[in-house]
Amino acid sequence: MDDRQRLDRATAHLEAPFAVLDLDALRLNAESMARRAAGKPIRVASKSIRCRPILERVLAMEGFAGIMAFTLPEALWLVSTGMRDVLVAYPTTDRHAIRALGADPVAAREITLMVDSPEHLDLLQGQPHEIRLCLDIDAAFVAFAGKLRAGALRSPLREPAQAAEIAAEIARRPGLRLTGLMAYEAQIAGVGDKIPGPYGTVVRWMQARSRRELIVRRGRIVQAVRRVADLEFVNGGGTGSIETTVREKAITEVAAGSGFFHPRLFDFYRNFDGHPAALFALPVVRKPAPGIATVLGGGYHASGSPGPTRLPQPYLPAGLRYDANEGAGEVQTPLLGDAASDLRVGDRVWFRHAKAGELCERFASLHLIEGDRVVEEVPTYRGEGKTFL
Ligand SMILES: Cc1ncc(COP(=O)(O)O)c(C=O)c1O
Repeated sequence: MDDRQRLDRATAHLEAPFAVLDLDALRLNAESMARRAAGKPIRVASKSIRCRPILERVLAMEGFAGIMAFTLPEALWLVSTGMRDVLVAYPTTDRHAIRALGADPVAAREITLMVDSPEHLDLLQGQPHEIRLCLDIDAAFVAFAGKLRAGALRSPLREPAQAAEIAAEIARRPGLRLTGLMAYEAQIAGVGDKIPGPYGTVVRWMQARSRRELIVRRGRIVQAVRRVADLEFVNGGGTGSIETTVREKAITEVAAGSGFFHPRLFDFYRNFDGHPAALFALPVVRKPAPGIATVLGGGYHASGSPGPTRLPQPYLPAGLRYDANEGAGEVQTPLLGDAASDLRVGDRVWFRHAKAGELCERFASLHLIEGDRVVEEVPTYRGEGKTFL
């Protein structure tokens, strides 16, 4: 039985559209991530999962500890359901949520907020319970006197002296405590290096240089901040950089999430392979012409710089492609290619999302598959009525 037959058989009782998670693939992906982390804990990036039962499942596996959340309301919700050690990876300006955090001793103990400037501190001061903070450090690669910049535009903090200064400022402010430091190298962790041609050569050159630069700078920053604050953790990396990030002495943990579902954008790394675990099925609803099969829905674009890489991948049957004029549509998507001829009205096409957790914003549940059986249906964040972003 091939993968398509297995998936079709497991879900024969369901009506598409629906989303599935292959638990065997998920487990293999998680084991591979843990091996790559070589003993350092992986903090699970919830944005790349967005399903509480799956977060719980992966946190129960060896090698994973703590959550990297994406908003404070999300973190408060997760803690209210019993989750612990939640780092909110992006700054918050949500005054209601900040008040809720400061008033709740359990949440204040379990949640750490991201800051990179005195404005953030102003928003957080004056709460009944002490607020735990993490400093976000710019880990981008900058070369040629600033003409080349690779990496995410995040924190304005880049140098050891800047980090030490804000750490000292936090120490002066009652009710705030600096407990962590994070420096996320998006240009390595989120950019595949298995690219043919000259562009691939440039990417690999940039990543090698960036790694060398970070070992030194991240180390110096951590040293400078530790003189002022008792850091409990130093976080870096993402799915694409696990094995290199953990090699740095200054790093105590890595963050990763996409590797669990192994979406399309993570097919292009030399250091690891994954198993596509999260898929969605759309029904063929019409055949506008011979050799074309049209499925219902499909326009589930991923975030980021727009372009064809952000589209879902028509995965099974193999050999399908989008129509250049229509792409992935709001309510229907024509698919071309050899395999389209064999598809009949009522058949299914299996897709992979370009990114990981965003898929769960489209579906209320994930059907969990083991072998050729659906063994459980679990709600996504959306299915629990939660849409944080
Ligand atoms: C701060 C931070 N750490 C880590 C990651 C890596 O997450 P993933 O492994 O899901 O790509 C991200 C992704 O954007 C991030 O923003």
